[in-house]
Parts: sequence; structure tokens; C-alpha cells
Amino acid sequence: MNALRNRVALVTGSSRGIGASIAELFAAKGAKTVLHGRDAAALETVRAKIAAAGGEVLALTADLTRFDEIEALRSRIEAEFGSVDVLVANAGGNPVRPGPIEEITEEGWRASIDANLTSTFLTVKSFLPGMKERGHGSIITLSSAAARRPTSQSPFAYAAAKAGIELLTKGLATQAGPHGIRVNCIAPETIMTERNERQIPAEIQRALVESHPIRRLGTPEDIAEAALFLATDSASWITGVVLDVAGGSVLV
Ligand SMILES: NC(=O)c1ccc[n+]([C@@H]2O[C@H](COP(=O)([O-])OP(=O)(O)OC[C@H]3O[C@@H](n4cnc5c(N)ncnc54)[C@H](OP(=O)(O)O)[C@@H]3O)[C@@H](O)[C@H]2O)c1
Repeated sequence: MNALRNRVALVTGSSRGIGASIAELFAAKGAKTVLHGRDAAALETVRAKIAAAGGEVLALTADLTRFDEIEALRSRIEAEFGSVDVLVANAGGNPVRPGPIEEITEEGWRASIDANLTSTFLTVKSFLPGMKERGHGSIITLSSAAARRPTSQSPFAYAAAKAGIELLTKGLATQAGPHGIRVNCIAPETIMTERNERQIPAEIQRALVESHPIRRLGTPEDIAEAALFLATDSASWITGVVLDVAGGSVLV
């Protein structure tokens, strides 16, 4: 019930989608939960929902491609809630449509790397030193099935950024483990966030279901439950893993 009691948890990109679901579950499990995003109105909707359910919650904005903004975010959290014990570096997304590699613009390539790999690196860079000093912490990063299973239809800039996050996660696990910090990664397949419900046509959703041994698409709650497990002491001997939460559709 209170698996995260007395823990401060930051979930980046929790103004909507998967991040909002992780934050709601963490707050329900007793964490002092910090929401983060760029859209203040969307953040307020999630904050109000968690607060109404009795959760202790703070909502802050920052652009994670800018280290100065992340450092300011960390200072606010430490002043209001204390040091972060659990960091879920969830923010990210795919700003470029899938297509031939030579048609990816330089701008689109950089935007994909920045929004995913660089933002994850900068977030970890800001929060890791404090965790090392305190001798404990759990970090969870977000990859994607796109990084695990390349196809001719893959969004390659996004997939390359996510593959970079997987390697970064493993490297971090080796460096941070001796300091009592675990670092793991979740790689989801298609998750039915509000955005995907809107954007993926019904017939494509039905076709996607057939590609999953477990015949349904994922929900934000599927990812939240995996994040909760990795965040808590139940996973105290688990570090450096990439967990495919993908209904069996990624078997490599
Ligand atoms: N949904 C899926 O099917 C799926 C599958 C595999 C992997 N993933 C990964 O799971 C994570 C969450 O995905 P989602 O579908 O829940 O995404 P989403 O609904 O689009 O939400 C993305 C979140 O990240 C924030 N964000 C993005 N770039 C940011 C930046 N530069 N600075 C600050 N905040 C930023 C957004 O903030 P604002 O909206 O407030 O600006 C929002 O809160 C992402 O890393 C995504 O790549 C998702």
C-alpha cells in the first residue's frame, strides 16, 4: 500500500500520458510526487486529480533540453519537498515522422536526439550527484520498442535516441551501483495514451493488436506498474536492465 512512503519521486513529462499515470500510481503508494512538464494547464489537471485523491504533489515546469532549467527545477524540489529518491526520466517523444533516412532533416534529427537522449542525460547529470552523496536512489529511463526492433518503417532518429538511452542506462548502472543507486530502463510498445487514441486510426489499432502475443495494446497503467516495481525495494537486486513492457511483441 505504502511502498513509496517517505520517498520523493520526480516523474519528468508527467503533464499527460504515461508520465501522468506513473505519477498517479506513485502518489497513491505514498510518494511525495513531483510532476513535471511544459504545459502548465495540463500539469494543473494532473496535480488537482492527485491532490483530490489525498496525494502530496508539486507541479513544476522546465525545458529538459536546457541544463540551467533542470538545475532550477532541482533547487525548487529540494526547497519544497527535499532530495529526490526516485527519478523517472520519462519525458520524450517522436517529433519526426517515419520515412527514408535521407529524408530526415538535420533539424528533425537534432530535435529527436535532444528531446529524448540529451534530455535524459541532462536530467540524470543534475540529480545523480546528490543521490551519490546520500548513497541511495533509483533511476528509471524510458526507451521504446522502436529501439529494440528496427524495421523499414522505424522512426530512425527517435529509435537511435532511445537505443542511446538504453546504453546510457547500462553505463550508469555500472557507475552508480557501488553508490547504492539502481538504474533501469522500460521499453514500451504502443501505449494507448490519449494522444495515441487520437492519432492511431481504429483499423491500425486492430492490426497492431494482432502483432502482440497478448492480444491487446498497452495502457499507461501497464507502464506505471512496471515503474513502481523498479522504483521500490522489491527490485533491490535489479539494475542495468531494459524491461520490455510490450505484450510479448519484442522477443530479442
Ligand atoms: N506512448 C507510447 O506508445 C510510447 C511507446 C514507447 C515509448 N514511449 C516513451 O514514453 C515516454 C512518454 O510517452 P507518452 O506517450 O506518454 O508521451 P506524451 O503523451 O507525448 O507526453 C510527453 C511528455 O513529455 C514532456 N516533454 C517532452 N519533451 C519535453 C522537453 N523537452 N522538456 C520538458 N518536457 C518535455 C511533455 O510535456 P508537455 O506536454 O507538458 O510539453 C509531456 O509531459 C516518452 O519518452 C516516449 O518516447 C511512449
